[in-house]
Amino acid sequence: MRDVLISPSILSADFSRLGEEIAAIDHAGADMIHIDVMDGHFVPNLTFGPPVIEKLRKCTDKPFDVHLMIAPVDPFIAAFAKAGANILTVHPEAGPHIHRTIQAIRAAGMKPGIALNPGTPASIVEPILDDIDLILVMSVNPGFGGQTFIDSQLRKVEQLRRMIDSTGRDIILEIDGGLNPETAPKAIAAGVSAIVAGSAVFKGGGSAYADNIRSLRPNLKV
Ligand code: DX5
Ligand code: ZN
Repeated sequence: MRDVLISPSILSADFSRLGEEIAAIDHAGADMIHIDVMDGHFVPNLTFGPPVIEKLRKCTDKPFDVHLMIAPVDPFIAAFAKAGANILTVHPEAGPHIHRTIQAIRAAGMKPGIALNPGTPASIVEPILDDIDLILVMSVNPGFGGQTFIDSQLRKVEQLRRMIDSTGRDIILEIDGGLNPETAPKAIAAGVSAIVAGSAVFKGGGSAYADNIRSLRPNLKV
């Protein structure tokens, strides 16, 4: 079985102590740090942008897996690169020229990712499969943590797994929204290689984070 990466979403962290929270999930076994950037326009919620991410960069050496829920994207790519993002994931609905956006992310030194809303088909990535390093399947509608996992997205994961395997490229297949110890095994069986989890990782305070992360990995019972 492939190793599944765990990318805790800091959307569920204590925002008054973000630096400490990131250090805590790093020590608790996080593989990447998932950072949800929202603009109150593309999604009905607001979070933070490059200046905050830049300050957080010194709190961990783990990759920053930055999920942009903003439109437009292109004017901010350079700022996210400077802030220390490693993976920059965008929604195809955020602009009219997704291929140009992906090229700009790569040219800025980051790995490009594509995020698919629950209503967005897998086929949208087909023409750009050779150009991306991550596909993020949203298993909730983006905007908020703590929502219920949408089971129908598992079929999309299976479809994308077949598409990725046929390329022979090592594209990360990540799932985001409503992941917990009950839903994570279903997503892994369907073919994901990375799991984002916010509320399931940050519940119970710092002393619970290591067990919470372990509970999302296959074959490792807490
Ligand atoms: C939603 C975000 C998710 C969210 C996941 O728009 O993209 O990353 O924080 O939160 P949970 O794991 O609580 O569903
Ligand atoms: Zn996210």
